[in-house]
Amino acid sequence: MMRIVLFDAKPYDRVHFDEANKAFGFDIAYLEPSLSARTAILARGADVVCPFVNCTVDRETLDILASEGVKLIALRSAGFNNTDFRYAQEKGIPVVRVPAYSPHAVAEHSFALLLALVRKLTHAYVRTREFNFSLSGLVGMDLHGKKMGIVGTGKIGRAAIDIAKGFGMEVLAYDPYPAQIEGVRYCGLDELLSQSDVISLYCPLTKDNRHLIGEKTLKTIKESAYIINTSRGGLIDSEALLEALKEKRIAGAALDVYEEEAGIFYTDQSDEGIADDTLARLISMPNVIITSHQGYLTKEALGAISETTLENVREFAEGRPLTNQVK
Ligand code: NAI
Repeated sequence: MMRIVLFDAKPYDRVHFDEANKAFGFDIAYLEPSLSARTAILARGADVVCPFVNCTVDRETLDILASEGVKLIALRSAGFNNTDFRYAQEKGIPVVRVPAYSPHAVAEHSFALLLALVRKLTHAYVRTREFNFSLSGLVGMDLHGKKMGIVGTGKIGRAAIDIAKGFGMEVLAYDPYPAQIEGVRYCGLDELLSQSDVISLYCPLTKDNRHLIGEKTLKTIKESAYIINTSRGGLIDSEALLEALKEKRIAGAALDVYEEEAGIFYTDQSDEGIADDTLARLISMPNVIITSHQGYLTKEALGAISETTLENVREFAEGRPLTNQVK
């Protein structure tokens, strides 16, 4: 029987994986630590390791996993920027992922963030809880009629396009592989950044697009524009973003991901506070909302993630072609 070690396991992972595993019957061990070279030894005896987004599956980690006899890396995420899959392939360890679970979960979260930001809901919520019913400072912005700039028109980007259209927004899009999507005008990234009232990122982090939003590009964005990132933190240079916010060169930002989130997101730091001054300062800004990489966190998405992950393992166990292999 395949033995799977699931790193960075949270209580909700266990609930959904145990439920899905009723149809598979694998031996699953749930481990709290995140996978890295320091913790890879914990995979001893496992056939499969199952990392999450903030695990570090680099060369050093892969060397240890290979020496411990691990045969498959089954990522329980769509993104795979944390995994050196080429090196894994060299070591004879295939990497599989969950390419789609609920694009709607992430797209809807990006709009939850956007609405909270433009209608100042976080401030309104705190006020009414203190019986402060004043509206001063809560003036918002209509989304209807505004230009929504969608960067990356894959599964999540398209789900977001449908929502944006529902709000009556005009949709601009940038993707190196444009598609035919009704009511969407593709343009260059420069035009999208300079024209959009809302810029929302739905593309993977690759070695070519790190800091796609950085010091230079931030200078081209409208002062009245909002930036939403539910993709990967590394797409935005957070220090440059903070400077732009402090100098009021953009209207606000909502981030579900942060470039240095590993070791902070998914953990409770309320006793100690955080050492990351940039993140602490961003959190302190009135026009910034940060969530802890929870775009995917719906029961529908968690169910689909666990089922696809275990199906990926079953394909491997039965020697079948790996539908979701990262190549
Ligand atoms: P997808 O693979 O369906 O679509 C990605 C699209 O981005 C493709 O159309 C691709 O051509 C395009 N693209 C690639 N490089 C680009 C660039 N430099 N500029 C603009 N577009 C580019 O992926 P999907 O499922 O839509 O996911 C997108 C990203 O969302 C993932 O890579 C992941 O990083 C992030 N994500 C975040 C989650 C969260 O919980 N916040 C959960 C799931 C995914």
